[in-house]
Order: sequence, then C-alpha cells, then structure tokens
Amino acid sequence: MSQQLTSASTALLRACARQQLPTNVARSAIAAGQQRGVAAKSSFESPFGRSEETDTLKIPNFKKYTSKVSPTTNKVFSYFVAGTMGLGSAVGAKATVQDFLVNMSASADVLAQAKVEVALGAIPEGKNVIIKWRGKPVFIRHRTGSEIEEANNIDIQSLRDPQADEDRVQKPEWLIMLGVCTHLGCVPIGEAGDFGGWFCPCHGSHYDISGRIRKGPAPLNLEVPSYSFPDDDTLVIG
Ligand code: FES
Repeated sequence: MSQQLTSASTALLRACARQQLPTNVARSAIAAGQQRGVAAKSSFESPFGRSEETDTLKIPNFKKYTSKVSPTTNKVFSYFVAGTMGLGSAVGAKATVQDFLVNMSASADVLAQAKVEVALGAIPEGKNVIIKWRGKPVFIRHRTGSEIEEANNIDIQSLRDPQADEDRVQKPEWLIMLGVCTHLGCVPIGEAGDFGGWFCPCHGSHYDISGRIRKGPAPLNLEVPSYSFPDDDTLVIG
C-alpha cells in the first residue's frame, strides 16, 4: 500500500512540474492521500486471518467426543481388548498348524505297519514264514545247522554280489529278507531253485540259502531289512 502511495505521489509531483501547478497545492493533495491510506489500512479486515482487534481463527471444540471415564479405565479396557484379540489369534494359529500337521502325518494303519513283531517260537526249524511289512513280503527262515554250514562254505569272491553270510544275519539260525526279487520285483518261491534257497519264476533267478543271487538275471542279493531281537523269542522288523 505504502509503495502504491509513493508511486502516486511521485506521479502527482511530476504532473505539477509539467503543468506548472503550485507546489503547496500538490503537497496538500499528497498529505490528504496519505491520510486516506492510513485510514484505509486501519479499517481493513482480512477474511483469511486474524486481525489485531478480533480473533477470527476458530478452533473446533472436540470436547463432546472425549471420554467421560478416567484415562486409567480407558487404558485397562484397551489392554484387555488387545490381549483378548492376541490370545484369540494365537489359539486360531495353533489350531490351524495342528490340523495341518495331523493331516500330513501318517495314518493309524500306516503307523501300525511301521514295525511288525513276530513270535519266533511259532516257526519250527527248517521252515519259512512270509509276513507283510509296509506292503512288502518279508521272508523269515529258521535255518538248520546244515543250511548255516552250507551258507558259509561258499567262495564269496565267486558270487555276483559278494557278501558273507555272517554279514546278512544277526543270528545264524534266523535269516530275514525282503521277498522282492532284485531283478524286476517278483516274489520268489521258497525252498526252490538250484541252490536250495529261493527261485524267482518270472525270469529264472536262483538264490541260495543265504538269499544271495547265484544264477539268473537278478543283479543283487535279496535285501535284508532292519530288524532286532528284543528277546530270544521275539523278532521286530522295522
Ligand atoms: S523278476 Fe525275478 S527274475 Fe525277473
């Protein structure tokens, strides 16, 4: 504003100089203009902010939204709600993980077949028994003394899959093997073949009394599963 007044005064003085107006007339006109400028400044009220006389800045009153109870009560309630939600989430997560693990774990019938217990007293000497373990046949042979001697009187180096009889048994009188031919998976027949052990009729593989391959296309001896003897009369396979 003052800058505008200064410019107007300068223009008026120049006009006086050009038109030969009396200088005192110009000065009085400038003084009157300046007085009007002060008066206009003092009566100005900004619509956007506060003036010197009145405070037009209105701060909203949120009092009706504030809680009527004490801050401690509010904190306790907040903690209770947060704790309850956390507890509920933890229980839900535990149930979800538990359901997933139960669903993925082995079923009861599979667990029942994981280990098989056999009473050895029911198997006479010189006899075979076939049991089912994890869906596969298992041969249990109660060998005689002569069979044990025959199994040991072999030149191991002459075998296709060299293995000593003592490395295939825990007790010499008990021979335990998977009844699956190592050629293509047929089930060999007991007490048959050229070597008095097992014979696979599918393609003609002959196994001896220790379950070692002696003739035919099978490349390996019959597999020995993991087993143990908890006592003298009990065999546990698996
Ligand atoms: S599967 Fe036994 S010889 Fe082929």
